[in-house]
Amino acid sequence: MLRTILTSLSALALTVLISHTALAQNAPAATAAPAVPAAATSNAIQSVNIMDVKPEASLEPGYAQQTNGERAKVQPGNNAPMWRQVGSGVEGYSSLPKSTAPEAGVLIQPFTQYPGSRLTNAGEAWRQVRNNWIIPYGGSLVLIVLGGLGLYYWRKGAAKLPDAPTGRKIERFTPFERSAHWANAIAFCILSISGLVMAFGQYVLMPVIGQTLFGYLTYLLKNAHNFAGPLFAVSLIVVMFTFVRDNLPAKGDLNWLLKGGGLFSKDHPKAGRFNAGEKMVFWGGVFFLGLTVVGSGLVMDKLVPGLSYERATMQIAHMVHAVSTVLMMAMFMGHIYLGSIGTEGTYQGMKTGYVDENWAKHHHELWLEDVKSGKIPRDRTAVAAAAVAAAQAKTV
Ligand code: HEM
Repeated sequence: MLRTILTSLSALALTVLISHTALAQNAPAATAAPAVPAAATSNAIQSVNIMDVKPEASLEPGYAQQTNGERAKVQPGNNAPMWRQVGSGVEGYSSLPKSTAPEAGVLIQPFTQYPGSRLTNAGEAWRQVRNNWIIPYGGSLVLIVLGGLGLYYWRKGAAKLPDAPTGRKIERFTPFERSAHWANAIAFCILSISGLVMAFGQYVLMPVIGQTLFGYLTYLLKNAHNFAGPLFAVSLIVVMFTFVRDNLPAKGDLNWLLKGGGLFSKDHPKAGRFNAGEKMVFWGGVFFLGLTVVGSGLVMDKLVPGLSYERATMQIAHMVHAVSTVLMMAMFMGHIYLGSIGTEGTYQGMKTGYVDENWAKHHHELWLEDVKSGKIPRDRTAVAAAAVAAAQAKTV
């Protein structure tokens, strides 16, 4: 054993000695003159422009159909066939499982044409729809509605009640109805403000408050958006079930619509608990747009089971979400205007739960008639509380 180690060490020492001597002998020659001629060195490091190589490889028949391997033979370093395939959405290998990352092998999406875009890679097509349509036209719609309402209020002011209050109150909304409505309205306002900043803030806010502050603000609002979304979804369903019965088409709706809701006349067309305008907001805004907004939002949160969450799914969900939210905001700006500063006494109903008989006569005369005839209790909460008390008294 010891002999083997000693033999190996002496062999190693001999090798080091020989190579050292050889280096020392070669050293002056190496510095004195390069082993390779200068012309040969410059040839080796010079590259060649493939366009200048003759005969021109691109003139060969079938050049455009070449695979990357074939191209490498005629034009080394030209990887155009590979990138063309990547750009057309060809799927490569990925070790990530399809169930969690269905598109991991696809670097660039295939060609698509979304409504309003050119025929191009889907990512670019989506970008064109967002930047050329949703942002400019959506933003304009919101501004036009806002400006129109402002102008109307400035010129005409709030719609006043013609008579003085009677002092006789009717319960318009129960505490449950108001809680559902306000939960939904608060969530809607958080979603609208955060959504508007996310979509338009970079054009309107960022130049004013700077990138850093805008970055923090958007980060905060994006999280607020994600928290308010589920609250909006749940309260929207509750609102829908709570108000659906009184929003069904009824006597007087057509007449109300034909008279434009009395917007341009002194006398108000008769209406039931909710007028035809409110019913349109309910079915168009709450039901159709509300469900579309919630549905597309849930898709973007990857919460709808059974869907393949690819980039195209997200792009389509985003476009649907953006268009329906802009329409919904435009519609609800009208609702918020009429439910707050636009008409005298209306906000009181949603705030306190009670309205004056005078308000009911002016805006919802058919509803008032039902209250007066006893068909609808004047105070539904009191009636329900009395019924509960009576039931409890029976069981004691
Ligand atoms: C700050 C925002 C809002 C304000 C100030 C507001 C105000 C009002 C007021 C005052 C009423 C009572 C109208 C009446 O007595 O006929 C009302 C009713 C109603 N609101 Fe709102 N609202 C707001 C947001 C929303 C939102 C976001 C939704 C739903 C997405 C909504 C859905 C409803 C529904 C369903 C009714 C019952 C009348 C109907 O069915 O058309 N509101 N709102």
